[in-house]
Amino acid sequence: MSGTESREDSVRETELHEEARAADGGEETELNGGAPAQDGGQESPVGEGAVRMRHVVSYVRREGRLTRGQSRALEELWPEYGIPYREEMLDLPQIFGRECPVIFEIGFGMGRSFLDMAQAESCAGFLGTEVHRPGIGACLMGIRCRFLTNVRVMDHDAVEILKNMIPENSLSRIQVFFPDPWSKKKHHKRRLIQKDFLELAVSRLIPGGRIHMATDWQEYAESMRDTGNDCPMLRNLSATGDYVPRPAERPLTKFEERGLRLGHGVWDLIFERI
Ligand SMILES: C[S@@+](CC[C@H](N)C(=O)[O-])C[C@H]1O[C@@H](n2cnc3c(N)ncnc32)[C@H](O)[C@@H]1O
Repeated sequence: MSGTESREDSVRETELHEEARAADGGEETELNGGAPAQDGGQESPVGEGAVRMRHVVSYVRREGRLTRGQSRALEELWPEYGIPYREEMLDLPQIFGRECPVIFEIGFGMGRSFLDMAQAESCAGFLGTEVHRPGIGACLMGIRCRFLTNVRVMDHDAVEILKNMIPENSLSRIQVFFPDPWSKKKHHKRRLIQKDFLELAVSRLIPGGRIHMATDWQEYAESMRDTGNDCPMLRNLSATGDYVPRPAERPLTKFEERGLRLGHGVWDLIFERI
């Protein structure tokens, strides 16, 4: 990777975070209510025939400019490390070449902290998904630069992946770090962490498997806490039933670092499948 490309990647990284915030606070898009979501609300088949229902997705897909490095990585490395979306359950041991604990990260951004964790926990298989193409390109570049063999990436909505591609009782951990907070009340329906999502997620965890979330938006943290505490299949690992200190194995994410510079608080939550 040339100096120019790495500078370009870092500029894009900042832009990504700004876009995430702008998507939440700066847009007055009328969301769904029967009409397709602004992002082209995904369609999920419901039963036989042509009956299809849209679900509101938790992201706004903004293409953004790809650097040369990201573009080349998408072209050259995707065939090796990318898993295309299709409605068919994955064979996880086959994907990682062995039986191993599998960690699924949703919304890895530019991938830095995701790859840090994969590097540190090399005995586990790391599957990540992100819908922002520059982030996917950056992550692919990172996999190659770090010579990682235990990482695979996807470029699709995490909800559909969990539903249609991840078998029940298969994941050791699901991690969702700094999901878009959708802070306006009228946009709360776009939040990823809701009752239905947690019920789906828990069904994909092995017993004793964990879901680890973090956010810098206090009211979202409270909502995650309450929704998790209300899920009968989950046990909050906080002794006080709310938050845990950031575990040493979770590196600061790029998004988090920016928030910390702006004086934001951070809340980590870990729930275990009973
Ligand atoms: C605020 S950013 C945080 C990125 C990264 N985790 C970090 O902390 O630096 C949230 C990311 O989640 C991604 N995202 C949101 N909903 C998603 C979904 N349903 N499936 C996959 N990615 C999603 C967005 O594209 C965005 O890049």
